[in-house]
Amino acid sequence: MTFDRSVKIAPSILSADFADFGREIQAVEAEGADWIHVDVMDGHFVPNLTFGPPAVKAFRKHVKTVMDVHLMISPVDAYIDAYADAGADILTAHVEAGAHSHRTMQAIRGAGMKSGIALNPGTPAEAVEHLLDLTDLVCVMTVNPGFGGQKFIDMTAKVRKLREMIGDRPVHIEIDGGVDPTTAPLVVDAGADVLVAGSAVFRGGSVENPTPYGDNIRAIKASVAG
Ligand code: DX5
Ligand code: ZN
Repeated sequence: MTFDRSVKIAPSILSADFADFGREIQAVEAEGADWIHVDVMDGHFVPNLTFGPPAVKAFRKHVKTVMDVHLMISPVDAYIDAYADAGADILTAHVEAGAHSHRTMQAIRGAGMKSGIALNPGTPAEAVEHLLDLTDLVCVMTVNPGFGGQKFIDMTAKVRKLREMIGDRPVHIEIDGGVDPTTAPLVVDAGADVLVAGSAVFRGGSVENPTPYGDNIRAIKASVAG
């Protein structure tokens, strides 16, 4: 993975057909996804439950781009090796998930993955300032994590602040929640380069009819072009 700040679309498979993840991943990549975003939820840190390491390992076989794994779990550290074994390229933990995010970021890199730190809407940018030399990605949640299809919460000021704090460091700013062609320009203008989108990518399409996935990805990209 080489670092660049071009805008990347990372479809969240939380909005895919849960009985057909392999073909959904193949379809959305064929339609132009830059990364595949995998939302892991534990029913404790967030009020929803998705899948764990064995499922993520099975997804890996179908991902040709970048597997971006977003952990909405607490605790995190005991599971880091399992996600490395599952083949995550990027492993993101929440700063609110435990008292020792610094150790968590070190452990993720130590296990051979890129590290990410995510912030809930209520958490200020300063909460991750001390982690910026230990992380490859800051994920700004623009919904309260747990579910797809929620309304975008404007975190533009936080994104601008983070972009300034990051400076020349090779750290991505990812936006997660409620991204669509209306909200994407706001966050890209503020300095984001990775846009997670679940419902706005998968709506209207299916593995049998994947063209809408491509249309939806192109619509988000077009909204931020120039
Ligand atoms: C929310 C997840 C998101 C979610 C985004 O907890 O982290 O990745 O799937 O879904 P949309 O794009 O539908 O808001
Ligand atoms: Zn996510």
